[in-house]
Order: sequence, then C-alpha cells, then structure tokens
Amino acid sequence: MSAELLGIDVGGSSIKLGRVAIARGELVGELVSLPTPEPSTPERVLEAAMSHPLATGCAGPLGLAFPAVVKAGRARTAANVDDSWLGVDAAALLADRWGRSCAFLNDADAAGLAEMRFGAGRGAGGVVFVLTLGTGIGSAPFIDGRLMPNTELGHMAVAGLGEVEAEAWASARTRSQLALDWPAWAARLDQVLGEIHRLFWPDLFILGGAVSEHFSEWGPLLRVPVEVRAAALGPAAGAIGAALAAHERYNP
Ligand code: BGC
Repeated sequence: MSAELLGIDVGGSSIKLGRVAIARGELVGELVSLPTPEPSTPERVLEAAMSHPLATGCAGPLGLAFPAVVKAGRARTAANVDDSWLGVDAAALLADRWGRSCAFLNDADAAGLAEMRFGAGRGAGGVVFVLTLGTGIGSAPFIDGRLMPNTELGHMAVAGLGEVEAEAWASARTRSQLALDWPAWAARLDQVLGEIHRLFWPDLFILGGAVSEHFSEWGPLLRVPVEVRAAALGPAAGAIGAALAAHERYNP
C-alpha cells in the first residue's frame, strides 16, 4: 500500500487536517476543519489538532503548514497567529509531547507544492507564483517547478497605496470585512498582482484560498497581463502539501 500521511494546515481562523495519499496527492476521507483556538498559542493549537481522532488514527510523520516564515525549523514571524509562536520549533514540540516526526513549513509554500505537483500548476515551467488569498495573502514562487521558500509578498508595499500592505488591501478577509463585491475586490487584487508583475515578471499566477471557488465571478475581471488560473485543490491544498513535505523529509 502506498503511503498515507497526516497533513495539518493551521490558519488564522481554522485548522484543517487531512489524511493524504502521497502518490495521488489526494485526501483519503474528509478534510476536517476545527476552529483555531483563541489565543492561538503553540500548545493550544497543537493540542487541538493532535487530539482529533484523525491525527491519532494516522500514524507516522506528519506535515504542519503554518502561516509564518519557518527558517531552520523555527517560526520567525507571527502575522495572524499568537506572538508566542515566535522562535518555536514545532517539530521538537511534536516529538517531545506526541512522539511524532514533523515537517514544519510555511502554509503558502505547502499549498504551492501541492498545486505544482497535483493541481493547477502540474507541468508548468518558468516563473509561477502561487498565491493564497485568505486571512492574509501567502506567496510561493516557483522557477521550473522549484520553490523559493518563505517569501512574504502579502506584506509587500504596493505602488500608490502608501503604507498599506498587500494583504490588508486585498486578502479575502478584507473583502468580507469591508463587504466588497467581486468587482471592487478584483480591482484591489489586480493592483497587488500588477505590482508583483512589475517586480518579478512571472509567467503564471495560480490563485488559491476559499475565494478560488468563485473564480468565474472575479477571475475574468483581472487585467494583469499574465495568465491567471484558479487553484485546483481547494481548501485541502495546504494539508496535502504539508503531507508531501513530510513524505519527502522522512520518506517512510
Ligand atoms: C503570513 C504568511 C502566510 C500568509 C498566508 C501572512 O500574513 O505572513 O507567512 O503565508 O499570511 O497565511
């Protein structure tokens, strides 16, 4: 039987867990979604995820996608999660407390790995930017299929917007908070994509997050002169990519 590993994707508002068939890059069973505890401290987040039956029932290494820069195994930023994550080595916590090996990585990087291997970016060469549009904006650039990890374009300044960061301007959260309709939000997103285009000249954008389910309503409104595709793996992309990263690291 081919490997099935647990993937966990921690977000600002929910934690998603899935059992992932590595060879197919597909979930086996449901994607479970739990509310992110408040405050979202490492102990509370990991306890919530690891006490779920899906986690206890899926042995072996696991992948943990997290909305922060993860360098040398430690969270180095904490934009939409509790500050107590700063400096935390989640793999060490999981090993000590739950006896599990873990690949700990940025959430957009995880979603990007999954989309490039099994989703909308399958076979795509050149410079591809996978962006996740959720509580924040995550970024994962690929060149000929190889990821440059830990980019933080959601915190980029956008020409003409002063001090406002890209994600405060055009995330899916901002769309709901300001009750923007699709055209108004697409115009903001277009400014962000335009800025990335001006600086990096990508060949393809792949846009994920829950809003990608409504891509037909806003995708055609974008005017950036680059091919834009909706992500294909839906809300499971981060969990799938996390499990793929664990498989690569530990090759069980
Ligand atoms: C974080 C990134 C993360 C993105 C999407 C941003 O606020 O800084 O690390 O990838 O949100 O969750």
